[in-house]
Amino acid sequence: MAAGRAVGAREGGEDAFRRLFRLYRRREGSDLAAVIDFSKPRARQVINAPLSYSSVSDQDASRAGLRPVSQWKAYGLESYPGFVFIPNPFLPGCQRHWVKQCLKQYIQKPNVCNLDMHMSSKETADLWGQSQQQLRNKRSNKREAKTLLEKLRWVTLGYHYNWNTKKYFADHCTSFPSDLAFLSEQVAKACGFPGFRAEAGILNYYHFDSSLGIHVDESELDHSQPLLSFSFGQSSIFLLGGQNREEAPVAMFMHSGDMMIMSGFSRLLYHAVPRVLPNLEGKPLPSCLELPHPTDLPLDSVIEPCSQEVWEVCAKYLQASRINMTVRQVLAEGQSFPTETRTNQELDNVCTGSYHEENSEIKKHKSNIDS
Ligand code: OGA
Ligand code: MN
Repeated sequence: MAAGRAVGAREGGEDAFRRLFRLYRRREGSDLAAVIDFSKPRARQVINAPLSYSSVSDQDASRAGLRPVSQWKAYGLESYPGFVFIPNPFLPGCQRHWVKQCLKQYIQKPNVCNLDMHMSSKETADLWGQSQQQLRNKRSNKREAKTLLEKLRWVTLGYHYNWNTKKYFADHCTSFPSDLAFLSEQVAKACGFPGFRAEAGILNYYHFDSSLGIHVDESELDHSQPLLSFSFGQSSIFLLGGQNREEAPVAMFMHSGDMMIMSGFSRLLYHAVPRVLPNLEGKPLPSCLELPHPTDLPLDSVIEPCSQEVWEVCAKYLQASRINMTVRQVLAEGQSFPTETRTNQELDNVCTGSYHEENSEIKKHKSNIDS
C-alpha cells in the first residue's frame, strides 16, 4: 500500500470502500466538502502531473477536438502514482460530437449494448430513431414511459467485454470507431503512452438514480497500458480506492469534458461511481455544452458538426444523464489471446450482468455487482 493513504478498518462486516460508497450514494444529507474538485483544485493531496507537450501537435489535438496540450491542466494525487486528471481539455463546442456519437452512432450494430440481452436485433436496430421524437416531446415533470435510449446502460466497442465471464474473446471483436481511437491515442500520447492502441471500449450511460459498483478493471491482458475515461453531461462522484477494499477511497467530482487516466500503480485500483448529480453550475446543462460547433477546425478533423435538431435530443437526454466512455488496450503488441477451451456459458455469450446499480430498482446483477 502506498504511504499516506487512509486505511479504514472493517466496521460491522463492511469494508471501508463500501461504507463510503453507501455514504456518497445517498442523495440527501451527504457532505460533499471532502470531494476534490479538479476544476478548482485546492485539496492538499492534489499535485501537478507532467504532460508530454511535444508528442501531440496542435494540429492533431484540434483534429481530435482538443485544445493544444500546452494549454491543458493535468493533476495527480499524492500516493496514487499513474493517476492523471485533466479537467475539460476539449475545444469549445467539441464535446457535442462525442455525445452524439454515444447516443446515435456507437449504439448501432455491430456494437453490443445491454438492450441486446433481451431484445432482438431488429428491435434494437434503430434506438435513436425509435426514441428521438418521444424524448423531444417529454416533459420533465411528468411520469412517462422510458424511451429505449433512457433504458440504455452500456455499449461495448472493439473487443466486447463479456460481463459474465469478465473476459474478452478473440472472436468477439468488431472494428473500433476510428474517431474515438484517434482521440484516445492523442490523450495517451500526451500522458506518455505513445504506443497505446484503442482496442476495447465500454460506454456507460447514467441517470440521477444510477451508480456504478466497486470494481477493478483487470480483464485486459496488458496492464502496462493506461485506461482512459471521458465524461459528458451531468457530474458525478468518482471514488478511487486502493488495491483492496479495506482502503478508504478518495472522492472527486467528474464534470463534463473531464478526462481521467489510470496507469501504472493506479491501473488496477478499486474504483466506483456512487452518484450522478446535477452539474454544479445549477443550469440544465453545463455551459461547456451550450457552445456551438467551432468554425475553424482542420478539414480532416474527426469532429463532425451536430445539427441543431440532433443536438436538441442529445441535450434533452443529458439534462438528466451522464455519459462516460472508457477506452482500453487489451493485448500487448504482438500478444495474442491464450488458447483455451470455452465453457458452454462462454460460448453462449449471454451476458446478464453489468456493474450498474440502480437505486430505484435495486437491481443486483448477479456475479458482477459488489455487495
Ligand atoms: C468503467 C468505469 C467509470 C465512470 O467503465 O470501468 O469505471 O466514470 N467507469 O463511468
Ligand atoms: Mn472501471
